[in-house]
Amino acid sequence: MEINLRKARPGDRDKVIWVESKSTPNLSYVPHVWDMFLHDETGDWSVAELDREIVGCGKYTLLPDGSAWLETLRVIPEKQGLGVGKRLYEHWLRLARSQGVKTMRMYTGTGNVVSKGLAERYGLRLAGTYREARMQCTRDAHRSASGFRQVSDHEEATRLVMPLSEKWAGFLVMNRTFYEFTPALCRYLAENGMVYHDPGTGSVVTIGARFMPEDALHIGVLSGDHRACLDFAMKTGAERGAARLNCQYPPQATDIHEALTSYGFSVAASDFIVMETRLDG
Ligand SMILES: CC(C)(COP(=O)(O)OP(=O)(O)OC[C@H]1O[C@@H](n2cnc3c(N)ncnc32)[C@H](O)[C@@H]1OP(=O)(O)O)[C@@H](O)C(=O)NCCC(=O)NCCS
Repeated sequence: MEINLRKARPGDRDKVIWVESKSTPNLSYVPHVWDMFLHDETGDWSVAELDREIVGCGKYTLLPDGSAWLETLRVIPEKQGLGVGKRLYEHWLRLARSQGVKTMRMYTGTGNVVSKGLAERYGLRLAGTYREARMQCTRDAHRSASGFRQVSDHEEATRLVMPLSEKWAGFLVMNRTFYEFTPALCRYLAENGMVYHDPGTGSVVTIGARFMPEDALHIGVLSGDHRACLDFAMKTGAERGAARLNCQYPPQATDIHEALTSYGFSVAASDFIVMETRLDG
């Protein structure tokens, strides 16, 4: 059976949405990211055809630090196990090498043995486990008076955010995209207005979304007065019309877990893993 990989085209939209609806019935975001994925000049948004029918898709994205992020890998159930996922990985590994990319990552649910096994087959190894908490945005939630101000200077953002790397086990997560703590990430966060600091309490929180901000704003890190950070995040979410707040954190950060759950966040039933490989040489 011949697998044909090619770049996604505007006319593929409905078919790819159909692929997603069949392969991840409980997770649908392709309609919202379609244009962004299609116009990503440095990345790759591919479809896989079998007998000229689209049966799979996948996205390769260069993150601000130059690492490659694999996402939205989907194959319809009837055509799984035939090598489509492997073809996409091989395509992306070639692309990464041609771009001089040094690190490649993906995430999946802890229960997704196929996705994990596929990543391992291409040398990706476990780099972290994260828990996800979410809470609806409510309009009456901004309890504490807030002294938070936006940090737009990237050097200041780097000074504030980089020291949080160890506590957050190396990754800041937005839209289930795992960003390694790097100065390049801090610059990206600052340039996109996502870093907030309250000098009075020494608190730092990042709030933003890579896509679909109306669906959720993501708390990447919080530090200092947790309650004040969450009040400010809730206020920001409500003001911007986000349906909910999300936060992914390492399970060993028990104080973060406690802060989120006592605030009213509910924790997802299962965790997520991030996997990575280094491509030196
Ligand atoms: C995950 C997914 C993309 C894989 O695509 P696929 O086309 O079925 O995968 P392929 O046939 O190319 O590759 C199968 C490989 O997965 C791995 N694999 C399959 N079953 C496995 C298992 N039970 N345990 C460990 N590894 C397994 C193996 O490496 C296998 O290759 P091999 O048999 O040659 O060693 C597909 O199953 C899918 O769309 N699932 C639903 C959506 C999803 O989970 N996406 C992942 C992102 S969260």
